Amino acid sequence: MQIQQDAQAVEWWKEAVVYQIYPKSFYDSNNDGTGDIRGIIEKLPYLHELGISMIWLSPFYQSPMADNGYDISDYFAVNADLGEMRDIDELITRAKNYGIHIMIDLVVNHTSDEHPWFREAVNNPQSPYRNYYIFKAGKNGGAPNNWRSLFGGSAWQKLPDEDNYYLHVFHQKQPDLNWENPALREDIYAMVNWWLAKGIAGFRIDAITFIKKDRDFSSCPADGSDGLVSIKVKSRNRPGIETFLHELKAKTFDRFRCVTVGEAPGVPFDQYANYIGAEGYFNMIFDFHAADIDVENGSEWFRRHNWTVDEFRRTLFASQQAFVRAGWGTTFIENHDQPRALSKLIKDVRYQNATGAKALAAMYFFMFGTPFIYQGQELGMANFCRQDISEFDDVSSIDNYHRSLAEGFTAPQAMHFVNQRSRDNARTPFHWADTLNAGFNTGATPWLAFSSADYTVNAASQLNDANSVFSFYKKMIRLRNKCWPETLIYGEFIPLDYPDENIIAYEKKAVPTVLFRSPT
Ligand code: NOJ
Repeated sequence: MQIQQDAQAVEWWKEAVVYQIYPKSFYDSNNDGTGDIRGIIEKLPYLHELGISMIWLSPFYQSPMADNGYDISDYFAVNADLGEMRDIDELITRAKNYGIHIMIDLVVNHTSDEHPWFREAVNNPQSPYRNYYIFKAGKNGGAPNNWRSLFGGSAWQKLPDEDNYYLHVFHQKQPDLNWENPALREDIYAMVNWWLAKGIAGFRIDAITFIKKDRDFSSCPADGSDGLVSIKVKSRNRPGIETFLHELKAKTFDRFRCVTVGEAPGVPFDQYANYIGAEGYFNMIFDFHAADIDVENGSEWFRRHNWTVDEFRRTLFASQQAFVRAGWGTTFIENHDQPRALSKLIKDVRYQNATGAKALAAMYFFMFGTPFIYQGQELGMANFCRQDISEFDDVSSIDNYHRSLAEGFTAPQAMHFVNQRSRDNARTPFHWADTLNAGFNTGATPWLAFSSADYTVNAASQLNDANSVFSFYKKMIRLRNKCWPETLIYGEFIPLDYPDENIIAYEKKAVPTVLFRSPT
């Protein structure tokens, strides 16, 4: 199983421990029901205590919030619920004083349908902005083809007064940008450089493998009872994407030596070097093979997969080895699109507790790559169970519920799938204390309801408890970064073929070559 690893160049972002913040759900400093940027500033001492060195901030830009900020209507403004631009500036400065970098989300596959570019494109067909998006004429009285959006239904939305449709890989309020248009690309690069000049450390780049579409726009054989086919087949990591990604890098990231992490589902292992090799488009990418182990092909929640630990181990290590061969990795078990790891990965309910949370933590944290922690994971937060689909906010949960019914499942079965997989599991407010609204605020109704008032897993009770999950994460960070960096960060990753198929084991070994520091 062992593969030869070269000595790694020393880079600050390899040594980083990243903490992802979903701003709406972290801390509501002004008690209006929505978390905010000032809330993050207030909680910097908590993050410093944990020991992280970079925040990945999910979108905070102006947005109608159809997809909680992944639908941007102004790249240069902060959503009013979350704060103001000066709060972002202050966050960058104050975080820096704690040695914490700020990495922000870059959402450039699509905008909101409320972005002025899109409004102009729809209102004035002669406007240059028409070519900023992807419009096609209808066919036989319907959509241009049978592509299904990732959030359900046709990927095409008809314009009210024309037989023209626009393409949306995600929600209909997230029209796709036309990367074939050089003018659009230049506007995007200018925006990226504006943020970099502000002093952010870099970007997590959203849905970036979707920016190139097959230009034949042809229908494909259906893969569901709705007669549609997943748009992934024709718009994910398609040939030609390399031209866009090289240009993006050359005209933006390279100019600032920033850190970049691409959300890159659908890239085969043999192409990882293009993405994260020496000349790769990004420093790191996320790999979702292990995260999506419980669903067939990663997106339709009713296609549950009954995985085994052995299968999980093989999946995890295959991704790890692809990282080792190509460049540098990322390692994570949660994010804002995933259910809580404790509920997903620990099948035996007796261990869906602090013991299970620590086992998962130790399993993933020291693998090959930069570790990511999603807010609340460091406490061992678990999934919630909701009774009715009306209790969900997440567009994808609502779509998966109806899709399951359409595929012939009963309502209780559909609810079960959604409860297992809902993105809302990770989006409920953070538990700061066992007090009103878990200390998220001082009493205003949170934007996303808690589904129970059980806040026993909370930060206040764990901070000073040496045996808590929080303290375990703190120790792991210290071990990795202070005690054994040459082994736990830069060391060789050696998967172990353990005789017990329920055990996931690997070795990290200091590489017997001198590390070299890359020129600054
Ligand atoms: C991936 C993001 O992580 C997810 O939350 C979002 O819904 C889609 N991209 C669309 O932006």
